[in-house]
Amino acid sequence: MRVTVFVSGGGSNLQALLDAEKAGTLGKAQITAVVASRAGVYALKRAENHGIPSYVVSKKDFAGTAQWEARLLEVLAETAPDLIVLAGYLSILGEGVVNRYAGRIINIHPSLIPAFCGEGMYGLRPHIAALERGVKITGASVHYVNEIPDGGEILAQKAVEVLEGDTPEILQKRVMEQAEWIILPQVVAELSK
Ligand code: GAR
Repeated sequence: MRVTVFVSGGGSNLQALLDAEKAGTLGKAQITAVVASRAGVYALKRAENHGIPSYVVSKKDFAGTAQWEARLLEVLAETAPDLIVLAGYLSILGEGVVNRYAGRIINIHPSLIPAFCGEGMYGLRPHIAALERGVKITGASVHYVNEIPDGGEILAQKAVEVLEGDTPEILQKRVMEQAEWIILPQVVAELSK
């Protein structure tokens, strides 16, 4: 199963997938390409370190959404994925890509959906919101991507405790370590069967 991974930042979830592949726990999945939403992000370095071809497709470099999506579809035609994994990808895909690859795109989100999700809830923001609300449990979710941000069918979730004195950064790190880096490779392996 050919997997193209979409990234926007540090790429620690990409790293978790690469580590799982190396450890033989990613089933029949192979990470064959990485697409970044901007140049210079560390995730691209991780792809390079593993000899994986990468592409940068920044929305801001295009005159409009249609042109941006056309370029994404061109890149995807080249990388020919069976599965697209949004692993810390912070742009919202348009319906051209979502419809073309319906049922073959998954996303990792750093909260227990339906809490702290939807448009504008990305990166640190779900953790800021969780701390503001005072929840005692948060976590991560892996779900199929449809036209509603964070609205597709849920494939896996894992709960993580919120502890006294947590900052958004500390909570983000715990959610990554105890949930994201575990459930994302598990779901990819499962889907490769
Ligand atoms: C991760 O916490 C991921 O769940 C989140 O961005 C971070 C990326 O980290 N994704 C979203 O917020 C999507 N709405 P990474 O680049 O180190 O994998």
